[in-house]
Amino acid sequence: MPDITAIQFCEYGPPEVLSARRVAAPRPAAGEVLIDVHAASVNPVDWKVRAGLLQKVFPVAFPMTSGRDGAGVVGAVGSGVDTALIGRRVCFLAGRGVGAFAEQIVLPAALAVGIPDRLSFTDAAALPLAGLSAWAALVTAAQVGPGMRVLVHAASGGVGTLAVQIARDRGAEVAATCSRRNGGFVRELGAGDVAFHDAETPFEDRLSGLDVVLDPLGGDIHRRSYAVLRKRGMIVCLSAAPYEDRGAEYGVSVKTAQVLPDPAVLAEIVARVATGRLRPVVERVLPFSEFVASHRMCEQGHARGKTVLRIRQSSDPSK
Ligand SMILES: NC(=O)c1ccc[n+]([C@@H]2O[C@H](COP(=O)([O-])OP(=O)(O)OC[C@H]3O[C@@H](n4cnc5c(N)ncnc54)[C@H](OP(=O)(O)O)[C@@H]3O)[C@@H](O)[C@H]2O)c1
Repeated sequence: MPDITAIQFCEYGPPEVLSARRVAAPRPAAGEVLIDVHAASVNPVDWKVRAGLLQKVFPVAFPMTSGRDGAGVVGAVGSGVDTALIGRRVCFLAGRGVGAFAEQIVLPAALAVGIPDRLSFTDAAALPLAGLSAWAALVTAAQVGPGMRVLVHAASGGVGTLAVQIARDRGAEVAATCSRRNGGFVRELGAGDVAFHDAETPFEDRLSGLDVVLDPLGGDIHRRSYAVLRKRGMIVCLSAAPYEDRGAEYGVSVKTAQVLPDPAVLAEIVARVATGRLRPVVERVLPFSEFVASHRMCEQGHARGKTVLRIRQSSDPSK
């Protein structure tokens, strides 16, 4: 039986618990596709799962393959799936427990979303989890629309870079937080007022009367965010650190966005990229062999967009 390389861990721990292992190639069952993965992105959930921080909510079976999202080419299909999909370029968000840091992955066919020829695999791999998270928060939960004033925390990160653009595209006025290093970059993405978390003036002294705060950080950032909202405004959270819901006290609502591998939404995101309304931001592309470094960089928490692993070289180097 042919085998493939997958990046796995057999215990919780530091990035060094990851290793490249030869494993049996997966086979698509009925309703599934096999994807030859060209690129996979690194998300904070990858290192949090590996470090054992999510054991209570997301227990894993060892050996566990790292990674949640990526892009590649459909290599085979299971019974009941249209064979015309073979050879199609796609991106995907895999279900929990199905690792994307692997030369091949098997998924329900519905989760493989077509990408245009001119979108590189590395850019496409940057979209699924970060894009679906930004969309779930701003569009599905907060229903951001024209004229609304929105604060995007962590605007320089994987989620934030897409969230700023999505909010702007929907006609909102966008404020943002990030480090000084990333201020100019976040303004270029469409944020007006940018408050730096490493400056003396805290964001709550600069901003007020906002309709929506996107909080992917929790903890202290969450606690301080109530003060910048108007009455009946909304904080929409991505589950990062724990937070205390003080919505009733401040007269605002607090929602946690449900991030699902929704292929219809991912297709919307890809369509916006295809028409130039949304730009994936890839800070660095690392060779597959740099999987330990990729986790370490993500864990440092000061990204400028996404880190992507190139799993295999395309015959067209621009892709
Ligand atoms: N399903 C879910 O609930 C879900 C889904 C997606 C993401 N998340 C969570 O959302 C968070 C962000 O994800 P991501 O993919 O965007 O991470 P990321 O790409 O690693 O970006 C993190 C960003 O946080 C910024 N940052 C760090 N400390 C900050 C502070 N005090 N104030 C403002 N910004 C700060 C950094 O900006 P600087 O470099 O400028 O400091 C960095 O760009 C993670 O905790 C992740 O686990 C949850």
